[in-house]
Amino acid sequence: MTDMQLSAWMRQRQAEAESALDRILPDAAIAPQRLHEAMRYATLGGGKRVRPLLVFAAGELANASQHALEQAACAVELIHAYSLVHDDMPCMDDDVLRRGKPTVHVQYDDATALLVGDALQTLAFQSLSETALFDDAVRQVDALRLLALASGSRGMAGGQAIDLESVGQAISREALEVMHLHKTGALIRASVQLGALCGNADPASLAALDRFGKAIGLLFQVVDDLLDAAADTATLGKTAGKDAANNKPTYVTLLGATEAKRLAEDLRRDAHDSLAAFGDRARRLAQLTDYIVDRSF
Ligand code: IPE
Ligand code: IPE
Ligand code: MG
Ligand code: MG
Ligand code: MG
Repeated sequence: MTDMQLSAWMRQRQAEAESALDRILPDAAIAPQRLHEAMRYATLGGGKRVRPLLVFAAGELANASQHALEQAACAVELIHAYSLVHDDMPCMDDDVLRRGKPTVHVQYDDATALLVGDALQTLAFQSLSETALFDDAVRQVDALRLLALASGSRGMAGGQAIDLESVGQAISREALEVMHLHKTGALIRASVQLGALCGNADPASLAALDRFGKAIGLLFQVVDDLLDAAADTATLGKTAGKDAANNKPTYVTLLGATEAKRLAEDLRRDAHDSLAAFGDRARRLAQLTDYIVDRSF
């Protein structure tokens, strides 16, 4: 499987995610127009769509239907987009650039940014609760509970709270891992599980995929820390050097770039190992693992 084939697959799946999001988001002409316009501004036309790609890749492995995967892909991307809008607000990271554009609170205002996050979050659950998405209603409730846990105070939002509490602190390696596993890892882990739940993955496969999702979730934020410190703003589409400017503990400040890269390689290996039992059926997930490590933004 060459890189060319992966990038063609990514482009196709990114386009599918984009048109599903475009379909699910309320039209900007519908009242309240300014809120709907800002929701679309925050979500459409940017981002790597890593979480939808993981939903699709895990779903392919589990023979899931295209429609269920599109709804689940939208659900995770809507939660992610909401988390970015709030993460950028002045009360959090205070960032002015996101996906190469002014952040939502800059382009609109703080109150609109707050409401965009609220509305994207509930739209995510609407997307996943559409009737007849899953053959089995119990499985659909499991999927909804999984997304709720990954997003809330025991998942992403909790990780963001730890992140804010940790500003200016010299936290331990264990505490940093907990923070990253929550603020970023939880939703990535949920993306893999949701893709598999949309299909016919059995409990043993779900467990193996969960080990995989945990490894790549942490890996994703280790690489994000490395890129924040080493890449430039134009490449990232968000302000480079923001972690140092905001006095955030990261894997780079804790371990240094060389050790953080070594950790990323360990996690890459762990992720690949956890896919071994699936053989070629997991090739997209394996390729996405390498993409997450080797990406430039
Ligand atoms: C950035 O996520 C925020 C983190 C959780 C690290 P991404 O790097 O996936 O951002 P987009 O969606 O591609 O813009
Ligand atoms: C973001 O972490 C995690 C979430 C948005 C949940 P960062 O604060 O490092 O993300 P970026 O670097 O601003 O994208
Ligand atoms: Mg942040
Ligand atoms: Mg940030
Ligand atoms: Mg970052």
